[in-house]
Amino acid sequence: MTEAVVDEGDLIAAAHAAAAHSYSPYSDYAVGAALGFADGSVVTGTNIENASYGLALCAETVAVARAMGEGARGGLQMVAVVGPADKGGGEPITPCGRCRQVLNELAALGGTDPLILCVGAQETRRVQLSALLPDAFGPASLD
Ligand code: THU
Repeated sequence: MTEAVVDEGDLIAAAHAAAAHSYSPYSDYAVGAALGFADGSVVTGTNIENASYGLALCAETVAVARAMGEGARGGLQMVAVVGPADKGGGEPITPCGRCRQVLNELAALGGTDPLILCVGAQETRRVQLSALLPDAFGPASLD
């Protein structure tokens, strides 16, 4: 595997900083996500909820939309996701199913299998995206 350009601690710090901007008045569950790219860039996102509850946008999806909206089409090496330390027993948060699929699209475009840093209050779980989303449906599935 290629050595990651972005430092893990820096990426986690960026995800924490993003979570500070969470708009989550309905769930009171602030999430931050940070994407680390092969060119050293970092793009963050946070969850944005809506009075129509089902329209909530997850932090990871917002981050991918921001990155792709700026032209990213691959190079995704690492993703940090942080949730609130006082919810879920402080266990590491893993991306929801939809976010796994959204992350997979960007990863697949560049042929990478990003390391996902699932940050909890006590520990950080490190897992490849392919382990969170085995047998993924992706761009190549449509060829
Ligand atoms: N949430 C995320 O931002 N990412 C996930 O992977 C799981 C859930 C958000 C959605 C909602 O705003 C809040 O967390 C509670 O579900």
